[in-house]
Amino acid sequence: KFEEKHFKYIIVGGGIAAGHAAREFTRKGLQPGELAIISKEGVAPYERPVLSKSYLFPNGAARLPSFHVCVGDDEKERQLPQWYVNKGIELFLGTEVVKADLASRTLTVANGRIFMYRILIIATGSEAIKLTDFGVQGAHAKNIFHLREISDADELVKGMKRKKKGKAVVIGGGYIGLEVASAMRINDFEVSMVYPEPWFMHGLFTPAIASFYEKYFSDKGIKLFKGTVVVGFETASNEEVKIVKLKNGQVLLADVVVVGIGGRPLTTLFKGQVQEEQGGIKTNGLFRTSVPDVYAVGDVATFPVKRYGDLRRVEHVDHARKSAGHAVGAIKASEDGKSIGEYDYLPSFNSSYFDLSWCFYGDNVGEPMMFWDKSTPSTTKPKFVTY
Ligand code: FDA
Ligand code: NAD
Repeated sequence: KFEEKHFKYIIVGGGIAAGHAAREFTRKGLQPGELAIISKEGVAPYERPVLSKSYLFPNGAARLPSFHVCVGDDEKERQLPQWYVNKGIELFLGTEVVKADLASRTLTVANGRIFMYRILIIATGSEAIKLTDFGVQGAHAKNIFHLREISDADELVKGMKRKKKGKAVVIGGGYIGLEVASAMRINDFEVSMVYPEPWFMHGLFTPAIASFYEKYFSDKGIKLFKGTVVVGFETASNEEVKIVKLKNGQVLLADVVVVGIGGRPLTTLFKGQVQEEQGGIKTNGLFRTSVPDVYAVGDVATFPVKRYGDLRRVEHVDHARKSAGHAVGAIKASEDGKSIGEYDYLPSFNSSYFDLSWCFYGDNVGEPMMFWDKSTPSTTKPKFVTY
């Protein structure tokens, strides 16, 4: 039905890594018509973190085009859809790749069109894990939301408008759980959080950090249900969620439920064709996969962390940006018969809730030492460092 499309470079996925890779290509030298980005999302690459924060705010909520990649770096660099046109980069939006054949270097998209490439960058990111994946009773009910893409955020915003100042149950004590619980509270919802661990952000926060943040959340009126999970939902006659049943026997009333129980890297298209490790696509320190001319970056890549001597997958923006830049640097250098050094990554994560924010660098090892600003936590501007 369609003519085959040929490109020198194709990026599958149109998220943060794709946007930053495109920018690096243009910096290193790109001819019009050489690069295509194929994305199942309907909009040009944007800074995903906004979705669980200011996108949900009751006043002055962020909306596109204000947070297209790379807004955080330099306003002038913001990659609006026209930027791709100006650079001769073809954006295929609302276009899902449904088949990848790495041996013949072809990709097939949902409408049957075939794309061929010389070099492929896999940047498919992650998908949200759902309670329906585990067959939790009633998990298909209306007003149960997940958050990964802008279309999910739009659904959540609509749900919040329908159930203004209602009861919100946030499931999961990780990144999404904390950020969304805070945003829902700012919207005057009565918020409860449910998570299986003894404290939230369990893998990252020390008990002392967690006790500060949990107190802060409780003081804001958020109820914390720890050490338990959801076993089922009950609905009203209109199929909207009404009751959340916990394993410990408690039941919570709910108008809106948001589930943030982790992400799963999107590797299915490439299964059996490329080496995998830790659920991701295994790469070397230049983000080359086991297949020649195929690179993987961002959430999907399992890469060597030089300073710790192991392999890891990192699901955060800093790495999505830097891995994309590094892969493009490696591609362009190899075209000139050169090489660049291996990726040397210092893990870096961040988050923000209410008027607080934190940054984490490095690895979570050893005995924590905490340095408090003397007036923390009674001050309105608490501050501390943990080493
Ligand atoms: P990303 O998910 O950004 O992009 C993948 C793209 O590929 C998507 O557009 C998807 O539709 C597309 N795709 C997938 N399969 C496809 C197919 N078959 N065909 C076509 N397209 C396909 N991190 C952080 O450090 N600080 C923060 O504050 C936040 N906040 C945050 C909030 C929310 C709500 C989420 C969901 C995530 C964060 N993160 C974060 C994590 C961060 O956003 C994440 O690590 C990066 O977006 C990863 O970038 P990628 O480009 O790898 O994937
Ligand atoms: P997460 O891995 O941060 O947290 C998952 C949480 O789910 C766990 O802490 C646990 O409390 C909980 N959980 C697991 N199984 C459960 C169950 N059956 N019932 C109840 N709770 C359960 O994942 P997330 O918060 O869903 O985030 C998804 C992705 O988005 C991740 O890749 C994350 O890194 C990314 N993200 C990052 C940021 C940031 O860096 N600031 C912000 C939002 C999202």
